[in-house]
This record gives sequence, C-alpha cells and structure tokens, in this order.
Amino acid sequence: MEDLAIIILAAGKGKRMRSDLPKVLLRAGQKSLITHVLETAQQLSGQRKVIVVGHQHELVRKEAEALGQRGTSFVLQREQLGTGDAVRCALGELEQVRGNIVILYGDVPLIRARTLLDLIAVHRQNGAAVSLISFKPSEPGKYGRVIRGDNTKLVERIVEFNDCNSQEAAVEECNSGIYCVDAQFLRQAVHGLNNNNAQREYYLTDIVAAAVKQGLKVAALCLKNEQEVLGVNTPADLALVNRELLMRKVEELIEKGVEVVDPATLYLDPEVEVEAGAKIGPNVQIVGASRVASGVIIEGSAYIKDSEIKEGALVKFNVRCEGAVIGERAEVGPFANLRPGTVLGERTKVGNFVEIKKASLDRGAKASHLSYLGDCSIGSGTNIGAGTITCNYDGYRKHHTTIGKEVFVGSDTTLVAPIEVGDGAFVGAGSTLRANVPAGALVLTRGQTVLRADWAKTYRQKNKRDI
Ligand code: UD1
Ligand code: CA
Repeated sequence: MEDLAIIILAAGKGKRMRSDLPKVLLRAGQKSLITHVLETAQQLSGQRKVIVVGHQHELVRKEAEALGQRGTSFVLQREQLGTGDAVRCALGELEQVRGNIVILYGDVPLIRARTLLDLIAVHRQNGAAVSLISFKPSEPGKYGRVIRGDNTKLVERIVEFNDCNSQEAAVEECNSGIYCVDAQFLRQAVHGLNNNNAQREYYLTDIVAAAVKQGLKVAALCLKNEQEVLGVNTPADLALVNRELLMRKVEELIEKGVEVVDPATLYLDPEVEVEAGAKIGPNVQIVGASRVASGVIIEGSAYIKDSEIKEGALVKFNVRCEGAVIGERAEVGPFANLRPGTVLGERTKVGNFVEIKKASLDRGAKASHLSYLGDCSIGSGTNIGAGTITCNYDGYRKHHTTIGKEVFVGSDTTLVAPIEVGDGAFVGAGSTLRANVPAGALVLTRGQTVLRADWAKTYRQKNKRDI
C-alpha cells in the first residue's frame, strides 16, 4: 500500500525551443528542467515516480537515471495523444497505489515542494477527488481556463483555450496543469476520456468535469506567484526560468544573513556557497564551484570563478579571480587578476595591476603594485616591490621561481626562472636576477651610473627649434 505517487509528463517534443534536445533536457540554472522537477518531487513523501517519456526517450531516461533516485520508473508513450493519454500510460505502473497521485510536468521546473504540500493539504482537507493548482497570469494566453459555478464559485470544469467560447476565454483563472488526484478516481476517469475536442487529444483536464458529474469534490489552490507554474515553451521562457532561479538563490542568501548591496546586479551560479556575514557589493559574478566565507567583503565589480575566499578577506573593486584561494584576512585589488593555481595565504596583500598564476604567497607576503608572479612560491613575510616580474617562460617551457621567507625584492626586479632566492635575502631595485641568491645575501645588478652636469641643458640649446 502506497500513499502518494507522482507522475511526471515529459513526452512532448517542444518544437518551439528550436533545439535538438528534448525540451525537458534543456538547462536552467545548470540543471536540466526534468532534474529540477525530480529534485522537487523527491522532497514529497511519495517514493514512487513514473516519468512518461516519448520524444527522444532514451536521452530523457538517461538523464533521470543519472540522479539515482530510487523508485523511479519510465513509461513510453509512443504517440502524444494528449495529457489524458499520457497519464493513462503511467497508471499501468501504479496499480498498487491507493492514496493520491500528484501530476507534474517535466517542463514546469519552478514549482516548489512546499506549494505541492499545500496542494496535497487542500486536497485532503476538502476530501476532494481532484485538486488542481490554478493561477491568474498577467497574460492568460492559451492556458486552459478554470470555470467556476456562477453561484457556488466551485470549480466545475476546465476548458482548453481552443475550445473556449468568448465568455470562457475571458476568464482570468487558468489551469497550471499540476494536480493531486485520488488514485482510484483517476484510474476510472482516464478510461472515460474521449478526444472529441478542437485538438483531437485526450485531455486530462476533462477529469474535473467528470468528478463534478459524479458528485465528487474538486478543490483548487490559486497561486499568487505565476513564476512557479511557468512552463518552458520558448527560449524566452527558459531565460525567465534562469532569472527566477537566480532571484531565488539571491533571496536565500539574504535570508540567511549575507549582505547583498544590490540584488539586481549579483549573479551567482546555483552551487556557489556564501556564508552568513559576508558582504557583496554591486556588479559581482560568482560562478562555478566557489565558496565565500563569513566576514568576506567583496567591494564590487568582481568576477569570481571556481575560487575560495576565506574568512575576513577583502576583495577590493575590480578583481578577476579564477581557480584561486584567497586566505583569511587577505586583501586583493583593486584591479588584480588572480589566475588558476593562485594560493594566497593568511593576511597576504595583492594590490593593483598584479597578475598571479600558479603561485603561492605565504602568510603576510605582499605584492602591492604592478607585478607578474607566475609559477612561483613566495615565502611568508616577503615583500615584492612594484614592477617585479617572474620570467617564467623561455619560449618553450615554464620554469619555477622560489623566493624564501622575509625576502625584500626591490622594485622593478626581473627574476629569470628557474631561480631561487634564499630566506631573508635583499634584492636591490632594478635588478635582473639570473642566478640563485643565497639566504641573507644582498644582490644588485645595476649598470654604472653616468652623470654629466649640464649636459642636457647644453644639448637642448644646441638643438633649439620653434614649436
Ligand atoms: C496543458 C493543459 C492546460 C494547462 C496547460 C498548462 C491539458 C489538456 N491542458 O495544456 O489546461 O493550462 O497544460 O501548461 O492538459 N505531454 C505528454 N504527452 C502528451 C501530451 C503532453 O507527455 O501526449 C506532456 C508535455 O510534454 C508537457 C505536458 O504534458 O510536459 C503538457 O502538455 P502541453 O501540450 O504543453 O499541454 P498544453 O496544451 O500546454
Ligand atoms: Ca505547455
């Protein structure tokens, strides 16, 4: 005996999407539409799910199976004869179910589990045979219309748009296509369906009038938020779904205590984690497998991909960061470019116009201005002067630079890799280093200074011209 089962209709082609993929495999928020629906369905107590597949059924099946949810089966609907026929096909798999059956669409991905629980509650409270989710869209378009009795105000039937007279077409309340139906009633009702209608289809919607005719109750849960039941029929719908998923993600963060300065200009991928107590300024994208810890401040205009930003770090204006780790209380930017393999330790500082790639800076190390640090490791407390460059590339291969702890690298130093600079060494400004520097040493490579008093003055006088 099972109490609740779920049918997901996913046999349709979705030709308006202009995609080779079956519609339910299109992605929004980095998951296929059917995955969104299956994950929501999983949050209900029912453990049996039947997916009705048709168009490119092997692909749809593969995608659903990849989720590894137990109790999911598939039914092939060879010809798409209508939603009523699709449900009839699915019922073959659900003969033991005595309780209720929730019917969902594979292309309506935004429905929330708590709304479905509300639907089930309304269904049970009313002792209804059929309960449906209705809504009043800003544009009722071609949705089926929910027709209520003039006096009773109870739902009497659903009329598909193509079958509507002008009075019915003017009704604002529409059918979402999501239902909770008594299993026994459903089994009997789908067998009574016919296709005497404008589209020559077996309409599932006709079970509503059938229930009323038998004196059974029909209940409706009318939603205020039409996004939740948005069906994806066009590329524009898919874009709306993406936007809604993003808004949900941002709302979720705000609710849990992340300070989002401008929710409209924060873009986050679904799997991004941001801890409570982080602050995110305007115009920020955080994508891929990224984590932002508590106390982090991202000032604004940043692109962060596959990166970890640890507690209390400050990411100043205009930082690009990919495949990087920013340590606790580190400061980065403005205008810094952290490329894959960058690991910044605790309290490190990376300032403006610094590019870092495959490099580690240990605790307290600083590179405050205008540097390229690639393929290198830099010890704790080391200061990298402005304009320092690791020459890591010989035209064919990349070479490593190792700089020890507490090293002072003067401005405008070039380090020709492979090279090592020992702990505590001191590098004079403007040096080009080609050989290892022992710990504690001073190294300078400077040309001789030429100074001729008044030389420039004389030179200018000699070459004087009118401007
Ligand atoms: C259906 C409803 C309509 C409702 C609308 C909401 C019917 C008759 N009409 O209309 O009242 O307002 O949804 O979006 O039910 N499918 C199959 N096999 C089929 C036919 C459809 O699996 O033979 C699947 C589709 O893939 C889709 C869903 O059922 O996921 C709905 O089908 P669709 O053709 O989009 O129904 P609508 O005409 O939009
Ligand atoms: Ca549809």
